[in-house]
Amino acid sequence: MTEHQAPSTAACRICGGTVTQFLDLGRQPLSDAFLDEARTGDEFSYRLAVGMCGRCTMVQLMEEVPRKLMFHEDYPYHSSGSAVMREHFAKTAKRFLETELTGSDPFIVEIGCNDGVMLGTVREAGVRHLGFEPSAGVAEVARAKGVRVRTDFFEERTAREVRAADGPADVVYAANTICHIPYLDSIFRGVDALLSPRGVFVFEDPYLGDVLEKTSFDQIYDEHFFLFTARSVREAARRFGFELVDVERLPVHGGEVRYTLARAGARTPTAELARLLADEDARALTEPATLAAFAGSVGRIRNDLLALLRRLRDEGRRVVAYGATAKSATVTNFCGIGTDLVECVYDSTHAKQGRLTPGAHLPVRPPEEFAADRPDFALLFAWNHAAEIMAKERAFRDAGGRWLLYVPAVREV
Ligand code: SAH
Ligand code: TYD
Ligand code: ZN
Repeated sequence: MTEHQAPSTAACRICGGTVTQFLDLGRQPLSDAFLDEARTGDEFSYRLAVGMCGRCTMVQLMEEVPRKLMFHEDYPYHSSGSAVMREHFAKTAKRFLETELTGSDPFIVEIGCNDGVMLGTVREAGVRHLGFEPSAGVAEVARAKGVRVRTDFFEERTAREVRAADGPADVVYAANTICHIPYLDSIFRGVDALLSPRGVFVFEDPYLGDVLEKTSFDQIYDEHFFLFTARSVREAARRFGFELVDVERLPVHGGEVRYTLARAGARTPTAELARLLADEDARALTEPATLAAFAGSVGRIRNDLLALLRRLRDEGRRVVAYGATAKSATVTNFCGIGTDLVECVYDSTHAKQGRLTPGAHLPVRPPEEFAADRPDFALLFAWNHAAEIMAKERAFRDAGGRWLLYVPAVREV
């Protein structure tokens, strides 16, 4: 609920059409801005609301956060923090090495290579590569693995420089990064300058179809500017001289789609793409009524989660959280969950430990203390890593502890 009347339309970042808001998640801090105890007074905030373009159907945030506030030296997210994701990206690299990167002296560019989780495998194979990573801290971790990194934002200007220095790329790849970039026009012009005539632009991001199915509203936060569908990506690609030619659904991060784009006419679209487009139509994914129903479900989850946490508190049960995710900033700050309801959050990321979560100010502790601490309930903010975390923390359940989940609905397991 907002106190001031906020504008409920904005201009589409893809086509200039009218974006109409369908969900308001209130004022929010930067989702990855963990605080040192000393300075909690002056947190940046912005209005987190999401809408859909009536012309091209792209789902996008109503307000943009300046990129330098999010991606900088202290960006705390390390992609290699999950064994499942390390495996996913090793497999991704191997697939490229066996398919698109088999010509003479192939070249792959990654946008948002983070700590080198994918390019590390490419480097081991001795294949020419370059990672773009503006967040200097994680870029340095990639460099220490021998990955070639440019500490910079990928955009038209920087892409042109790479084309001039290194020649055309066979693959431009990005995971969980293209959806972070409001200036997609500049990205497409950069890929156009850099990609070889038969090259592919491949990116994977959280899928609106999964977000609606699971009511995973916590996929909406400052860094996730766009929520893609095959239909909206196809339309965006078309506007910049590209063609969506293939899609693949991925189980990671709660459900994603990997989109493969080529220069218009260069490749034949697959049957898989036709199937997903038809499925999106059948599900009425980008109909206003579907999005309004989603917004209603989000409100119900908030009410259910707050009711449960308040009941547990009143019963004197000890509740903690697990996984200081960017996603959890949306949950805690939208629902108003502070240390009165959740004592602390355990997370394996060194850069987050000993600090406070943005907005909600939950203290972040190392997971080594979790089992010893013997809480009654643990709210799983990193629900997308549930299998990995529950296996690792089996002792918690064995000792009678219970996990709390809120996606797709609030429940104990
Ligand atoms: N690909 C990794 C990292 C995703 S996090 C993974 O899937 O786990 C998103 C990353 O994109 C961050 O490391 C951020 O610094 C980077 N990023 C943001 N804008 C970018 C841009 N314009 N060019 C290149 N990287 C960017
Ligand atoms: P993730 O869900 O990958 O992304 P986001 O921050 O974009 O929502 O974040 C997972 C967080 O959970 C990350 O801070 C690391 C932490 N984590 C653990 O503490 N233990 C684990 O076993 C795993 C897999 C993650
Ligand atoms: Zn549009």
